[in-house]
Amino acid sequence: MYRVNYTARLLTHVLAPLLTFDCHSDRYLYKTAKSLPWEKLISLDTTFAIEANVSGSRIRHSQYAAQKLKDAIADRFREISGKRPDVDPRNPDLWLNLYVHNNKATISAETSGGSLHRRGYRVASVAAPMQETVAAAIIKYSGWKGERPFYDPMCGSGTLLAEALMHACRVPAGYLREKFGFMRLPDFEEGLWKKVKRDCNKQIKPITPGLLRGSDISGDAVEAAKENLQRLPGGEQVKISKRPFQKIDSLKDTVIICNPPYGMRSKNTREAGALLDEFGKFLKERCGGAAAYIYLGNKKLIKDIYLQSSWKKPINSGGLNGYLVKYKIR
Ligand SMILES: C[S@@+](CC[C@H](N)C(=O)[O-])C[C@H]1O[C@@H](n2cnc3c(N)ncnc32)[C@H](O)[C@@H]1O
Repeated sequence: MYRVNYTARLLTHVLAPLLTFDCHSDRYLYKTAKSLPWEKLISLDTTFAIEANVSGSRIRHSQYAAQKLKDAIADRFREISGKRPDVDPRNPDLWLNLYVHNNKATISAETSGGSLHRRGYRVASVAAPMQETVAAAIIKYSGWKGERPFYDPMCGSGTLLAEALMHACRVPAGYLREKFGFMRLPDFEEGLWKKVKRDCNKQIKPITPGLLRGSDISGDAVEAAKENLQRLPGGEQVKISKRPFQKIDSLKDTVIICNPPYGMRSKNTREAGALLDEFGKFLKERCGGAAAYIYLGNKKLIKDIYLQSSWKKPINSGGLNGYLVKYKIR
């Protein structure tokens, strides 16, 4: 696996030692930031944006701090060349992070180019999609590596299926990402990057047809899951159908991973509990020899599955204090 640490090189060569500095006022932030050689890092055709985080400091507002840093960069460029690079707050070529803590500022360049949980395969969604990285963590916790059949009986937009596919077939997490922040850094070597990418992609394995399957009661969810899976290599081999789990004949000796509806409001929680009761019976009666890993977004729901669990792991995500629970079905 390659790990190209452009930030480290950047900090040493371009901006050090001023990247971390005392910062007791917005004026000092502006003045120090303006003295940095931004023209060595950002070219006029590079768009940039700033994400700021401020705590325990005289500067109190993150957005204001970001604005000051943006002004400093823009003013420096204007003074040097009469022009300035554009700010693109949504999809910039380069994200800069400003962190002010206890009156010390740190500025760093974000080399990923946006949050890495966005893999890029989710083009269609459903009401409560799971975050890609949470799904990836669940697959890892389950220990599944592609040796036994896998089934998600409430697949929604197919996130668990997509992450299972990527895991078993060694599809790199950034496979679909076309733009990384490090591509706009001055020492970016396109040839080296292409080689790294080629080498990683060569390790992608074909998927055994029928290894991964899923279903959902909702036709829209099934369509979304198919569309998303198709973006990944081997995704067309994942069998997805519209059907309630109550209509699945059997899932014997299968690894079952899913996240059933968890119900945010109390009426929905009661409904979610009743559905889990039914799901527990389905596992017991029709899934002999299976291992089931159920992610429940609400701890109270664990008691609704009347089965003895092997283990429970807390997984917090997106404001949910969820649990992944393993059941071994005899
Ligand atoms: C929390 S969502 C799953 C989200 C999914 N993991 C994703 O990333 O998009 C729960 C799913 O369970 C489905 N569902 C609810 N009742 C069902 C049933 N009886 N049989 C099958 N699927 C059901 C819903 O349609 C919904 O897509």
